[in-house]
Amino acid sequence: MSEPVLTCDNLHRFLGKDETRAHALRGVSLAIDAGRTYAIAGHSGSGKSTLLYLLGLLDRPDDGTITLRGHETSRLSDEARTALRNEHLGFVFQFHFLLKEFTALENVMLPMRKLGRLAEADMRAKAADLLDRVGLADKRNRLGNHLSGGEQQRVAIARALANDPALILADEPTGNLDHANAERVFALLGEIAHDRGQAVLMVSHNPELAARCDHTLHMQDGCLLP
Ligand SMILES: Nc1ncnc2c1ncn2[C@@H]1O[C@H](COP(=O)(O)OP(=O)(O)OP(=O)(O)O)[C@@H](O)[C@H]1O
Ligand SMILES: [Mg+2]
Repeated sequence: MSEPVLTCDNLHRFLGKDETRAHALRGVSLAIDAGRTYAIAGHSGSGKSTLLYLLGLLDRPDDGTITLRGHETSRLSDEARTALRNEHLGFVFQFHFLLKEFTALENVMLPMRKLGRLAEADMRAKAADLLDRVGLADKRNRLGNHLSGGEQQRVAIARALANDPALILADEPTGNLDHANAERVFALLGEIAHDRGQAVLMVSHNPELAARCDHTLHMQDGCLLP
């Protein structure tokens, strides 16, 4: 078995100050293997988003370690963490952060521009293909703020896949979508994992979708249940 894409060991995170200080993560350890889909389930406030931010190298733990593609990240500079993030991770978060004055196509091309490995025409073709796969072939030239919430979410999913990341981290990726589009996005994430060997870790409040992932992790009060 090849080494996991990502591992974390004994993560702790405190959020807030003084009387609002919360022990949001209390010793979380896990390993994510290539080619697998993982769901994180758990009540509101159990620490799911906090965990995703840490694993995405968007926040630093108060204790514990995160190793991404063999790189132990705790002592790395912000620049080194950003470089690892751009190369190996894709994000779909609850707030999509599309650039409103850019078209759908340009939004999907942004991570490719940051990585700087493809020629302009190849970036365009790849972004168009990804938008096609999320059912937005006809909206590729629409501005971000002229798309519905569910359309923006699908652009965000296409954008997360732009650099063929080793791991896609998704917070409720199907939350704002109707049944047909939720199925389409879920199927796409499954294909990405099973056909292309990327890994997907998604927070989901939908028990039916969570059960269809290869693994379901349950969070409660900042801990993963055994
Ligand atoms: N800035 C903050 N200051 C204090 N406590 C915080 C802060 N941000 C989050 N928390 C607390 O940390 C805990 C974990 O929050 P988190 O957002 O990870 O939950 P979640 O499982 O993603 O919930 P949801 O399903 O509602 O998105 C919660 O108890 C929350 O109230
Ligand atoms: Mg959350």
